[in-house]
Amino acid sequence: MYKVLVLPGDGVGPEIMSEARKVLTKVAQMAHLVFETKEAFVGGASIDQIGAPISDEVLREAKASDAVLLGAVGGPKWDQLDYSLRPEQALLRLRKELELYANLRPATVDPSLVDASTLKREVVEGVDLLVVRELTGGIYFGKPKGIEKGNDGAERGVNTEVYSTGEIERIARKAFEFARKRKRKVTSVDKANILESSVLWRKVVTQVSKRFPDVSLTHLYVDNCAMQLIRDPKQFDVIVTTNLFGDILSDEAAMLTGSIGMLPSASLGDRYALYEPVHGSAPDIAGKNQANPIATILSVAMMLQYTFQLHDLALAVEGAVRQVLKEGYRTLDLVSSGGNSVSCSQMGDVIVERIKH
Ligand code: IPM
Ligand code: MG
Repeated sequence: MYKVLVLPGDGVGPEIMSEARKVLTKVAQMAHLVFETKEAFVGGASIDQIGAPISDEVLREAKASDAVLLGAVGGPKWDQLDYSLRPEQALLRLRKELELYANLRPATVDPSLVDASTLKREVVEGVDLLVVRELTGGIYFGKPKGIEKGNDGAERGVNTEVYSTGEIERIARKAFEFARKRKRKVTSVDKANILESSVLWRKVVTQVSKRFPDVSLTHLYVDNCAMQLIRDPKQFDVIVTTNLFGDILSDEAAMLTGSIGMLPSASLGDRYALYEPVHGSAPDIAGKNQANPIATILSVAMMLQYTFQLHDLALAVEGAVRQVLKEGYRTLDLVSSGGNSVSCSQMGDVIVERIKH
């Protein structure tokens, strides 16, 4: 029996999560497994209930579970709140307190969606890359931070990019380990021509690479990487980078696939794991049954693979997604590539029907 904490969150979160839960139920039936799920509020939904984006109780529950499955957080309703009370803080606390330092964001272009990308077919066809983003350090958490008032009355906003050797080592190791299961190619992305934290990053990643002689390592500056990602994305296998650069580059990589509604993610530490779509809460389409549930459903596949080691089931879910796309089912974000437009729940239903052992 496996314990999964489900945190639907805000906006389209509850809708996409219902579809993900259908998939989980189907998989459990097929494999005669039990996923014991608990659901809790997070983000704006939690603010509305208890006045804080996440409770200690939910954090405890997360630690008592085998995995956490999260929808999305945030929305205009909570945008005016003080920074420390914003829905996004729930994500940051979960990441930090569960020590989820390795964020995996795969970007794979499905053969049926090559024309959904804003880039040319020949550029994106066959893209299969993995962004390994450091998730508990860097400028997101570095101190000093804050907005301070000087003697002249002018305000100063301060954040600090900081990385220690240990933090770089463990994320680099993860990147090389994942590369070993792929095309054995790591690109480390930094800004070592300007930032000292990047000089250390590059040095430590190079040291770690010596323990992986079968994996090649290249270094790129982040500006160059941003350019290379749209110029020739097929050159990449595993991209390992800092928290902030990974945030930016993973959104860019997402668009190679046609829609950010396609991208799943896993946030892994040495003890806990959290799975969530890369996209946000999409308040403009919330409650309309129009969201694309595929990113969340593929996040379930990642959970089956990484937390539960149920590789066949993970492949079965991914296969079902590929199949429905091949058959032409498209949510609104994907209709530019032709096919039949379906709602969020219809997409979930056809995917569930196509899951075969
Ligand atoms: C992401 C998001 C988050 C981040 C926000 C919502 C805090 O953009 O997961 O990429 O910046 O990490
Ligand atoms: Mg982001």
